[in-house]
Amino acid sequence: MKFYVTTPIYYINARPHIGHCYTTIAADCLSRYHRMVGKDVFFLTGTDEHGDKIAQAAEKKGITVEKFTNEMAIEYKKMWQKLDISYTRFIQTTENQHQDTVRAVFKKLMDNGDIYMGQYSGYYCVPCECFIPKTKIDQSNPSCPDCGRPVKIIKENSYFFRLSKYEKPLIEYLDKNPGIIQPAFRLDEVRNFILQGLNDLSVTRQGPVWGIESPTPEKYSVYVWFDALINYLTGAEYADGRTNRFWPPDVQLLGKDILRFHAIIWPAMLMALGLELPGKIFAHGWWTVGKEKMSKSKGNVIDPVYLIDNFGVDGFRYFLLKEVPFGLDGEYSEEKFIKRFNSDLANDLGNLVNRTLNLVEKLFEGTIPDGFLSAEMEKLVDSVIANVDRLINDVAFSEALAEIWKLISELNRLLDSEKPWNSSPETAKRTIAQCVSGISLISLLIYPTMPETSRKIWKMLNIEIQEDKVTLNKKILRLLSGKKSGKREILFMRIKT
Ligand code: MSP
Repeated sequence: MKFYVTTPIYYINARPHIGHCYTTIAADCLSRYHRMVGKDVFFLTGTDEHGDKIAQAAEKKGITVEKFTNEMAIEYKKMWQKLDISYTRFIQTTENQHQDTVRAVFKKLMDNGDIYMGQYSGYYCVPCECFIPKTKIDQSNPSCPDCGRPVKIIKENSYFFRLSKYEKPLIEYLDKNPGIIQPAFRLDEVRNFILQGLNDLSVTRQGPVWGIESPTPEKYSVYVWFDALINYLTGAEYADGRTNRFWPPDVQLLGKDILRFHAIIWPAMLMALGLELPGKIFAHGWWTVGKEKMSKSKGNVIDPVYLIDNFGVDGFRYFLLKEVPFGLDGEYSEEKFIKRFNSDLANDLGNLVNRTLNLVEKLFEGTIPDGFLSAEMEKLVDSVIANVDRLINDVAFSEALAEIWKLISELNRLLDSEKPWNSSPETAKRTIAQCVSGISLISLLIYPTMPETSRKIWKMLNIEIQEDKVTLNKKILRLLSGKKSGKREILFMRIKT
């Protein structure tokens, strides 16, 4: 009954943009859903604070790297608060517990013989914080095969992790557990990469590199990706080769650009440590603008604060999770945002709630009729709840939301066809009772995606719900009968174009 979900830890050389918000909102949606069905949830996120890139950003700002990392971590925390993110633990890789975990892991792998001393000679891309072997570089124009930016040459003594030793075990594991890599279409990409042959991975850097000191006689810095991946173990309180009861992660969310680190290096590290592998490693797509990945370096980032301040946090959360099936790329435009907001939120959901509560006021003097569902509606509700459960377990947010919208559409259709404002009192009562009951269930179903909207609906329906005890079941219907509805408020104001 536990659920452990992680986001990548974000590089703090820049303020959070839509790409970072995307993964974190997705993890929040999973966390809230799994809490709602009674699981003990551990939701881990944080910031990746080491490496040349961060040191350079601090230097550019003219402040110490310690001051810089602390200031930027606060920016991230503020953003998550603004976005209603219910994380359990926020890790900063500069914190002591994490540094100790990294050294403990490093030491264990050295003791096992999985880390050994050698010499690295090749290239390094600072923006990607990634080693690139000579064979992957065009010598006449040495640039990073991933991001195209200049690379630097490194020739230094280094400790290596025996990644090559895990080629066969990784392939065998993927054959037996193909579901670990999600979406399924990414599995071949991972498998082919492994089959091309894995090089041992340099896991230390020499010289003045901003990082965790390695537990070796030479006092090198631990390679930033090796340090970063271990945060998932710090979260699970790794010590003396053991973790707490949340291990292994059930779902690890990340963008497709960092799938190889998570689908190859990370599982190999866990195999070397003798720990269980995660349930699902899910790579989502990119938000693009003009078909280019949204990123600070391209200067095409959309500021989430602008969207949240203008259209509300839930409009933003909903758009990101609904617009694109999780796993595929999505092109962002304000036009798309407005269209989605107006049709699904202002029109479908907003109107349903507004019309229904307006009728409760007009026809029943604000007294909510008994919670009631017709047999037909009950069937629909049950199928929606079951499908949402299946789809959220498949990490298919957009499809799960489409299921919930079936119920919203059906209730809107019922209002249109039964016309309670113009029907017999009996029909009016029956219709409004159905709609109020439906809305109360919808308030639970949308809660993982739009918690603020659920809170507003609970207020309007005068339902008292303790948020840490929200449960997804039909018992909410019992809380409705005979109550006076609360003050009506417009949930989503139509955006004028
Ligand atoms: N620090 C590493 C992760 C270490 S995890 C052990 C890192 N950080 S990052 O800040 O560059 O990126 C974090 C996440 O944001 C990645 O999953 C990345 O895919 C995601 N996004 C960054 N830009 C994005 C878009 N434009 N669209 C969607 N997500 C993208 O990598």
